[in-house]
Amino acid sequence: MKKDIKDIISVAPMVDKTDRHFRNFVRMINKDVLLYTEMITAQAIINGDLDYILDFDEVEHPIVLQLAATNKEEAYKAVKIAEKYNYDEINLNVGCPSDKVSGNMMGAYLMAFPEGVAEIVSEMKKATDKPVSIKHRIGIDGKNVLPSSFERTLFDKYEDMLNFINITEKAGVKKYIVHGRIAILAGLDPKQNREIPPLRYEEVYKLKKEKPYLHIEINGGIKTVEQIDEHLKYLDSVMLGREIYDNPMILEKFGKYYGKTINITREEIIEKMILYVENIEKKGIRPHRFLMHTHGLFHSINGSKYWKREINTPKADSETLKRLLKEIGRKKKNENYQ
Ligand SMILES: Cc1cc2nc3c(=O)[nH]c(=O)nc-3n(C[C@H](O)[C@H](O)[C@H](O)COP(=O)(O)O)c2cc1C
Repeated sequence: MKKDIKDIISVAPMVDKTDRHFRNFVRMINKDVLLYTEMITAQAIINGDLDYILDFDEVEHPIVLQLAATNKEEAYKAVKIAEKYNYDEINLNVGCPSDKVSGNMMGAYLMAFPEGVAEIVSEMKKATDKPVSIKHRIGIDGKNVLPSSFERTLFDKYEDMLNFINITEKAGVKKYIVHGRIAILAGLDPKQNREIPPLRYEEVYKLKKEKPYLHIEINGGIKTVEQIDEHLKYLDSVMLGREIYDNPMILEKFGKYYGKTINITREEIIEKMILYVENIEKKGIRPHRFLMHTHGLFHSINGSKYWKREINTPKADSETLKRLLKEIGRKKKNENYQ
């Protein structure tokens, strides 16, 4: 059976990055990859300005809402509220290592409480018919963070991850996204926790082998199509975060996974950006909120520094983009004359 692209590649949830504007930017290059919201706490949904937090544009489908929750009651309420926005999937964050998130007993902290996670997922599934997935780590080091009543605070063995899956799958989870390194809850900040603990891809492959009926997606440190090809030999799908944000043109290369040739030039993308920025300008939204996410458009090619500088000025707007587009056109013409 031919797989859908959304079952093969996704853009990782990233706070302050994968907001509506960035997701719209991704769609200017690739219409099919699976998108995630930033992590949104259940409390923010229960108490917040819903349209601001949850609304998205039709083009953003397929899109997953990523939720952070600490107990089943709030998880149920939040998913129920989010129902009207029609996300394609709801994901529970069991991977965030930040002390603020652990301090509120959410994110990677929950890997030490698989029964609790199973209860949260069961309630989420009562609130929606949409699939509920989990994004987690290989394990955690919960020293100085987990309750002192715990017999141990290190859950970093493959068997610990397997135990987590064994218990949570009973709640009906069919898809797991595994960030292939452990999270160290005390002593490392989130950035360090994305770099210092070593990547352990083999254990994710082993998990798929042991549980072939589950959809297992791998995440962490993936940067090239060659790496994606390698992972797809063993796994169902891959998730990329930082590479897509910094080098969005990589999205063009993903067509091959679902028999599509994506051929879009940077000029064509800028034309789409102009329309988008004109539209948000009309709504009174600062263009910078969108433009800041497009800094990688010229990643590692000539003009990258210039582009970043021009779109990063607070005054940059649709007119800036029109000027840059003309400059690119002139430059190309001159190059042809040489
Ligand atoms: C700025 C930033 C914010 C992130 N926010 C989230 C988040 O909200 N939820 C989540 O599950 N992971 C979050 N992550 C982790 C990513 O989803 C991903 O697991 C991690 O970056 C490793 O993938 P990569 O090497 O492809 O970037 C964030 C990462 C970054 C760089």
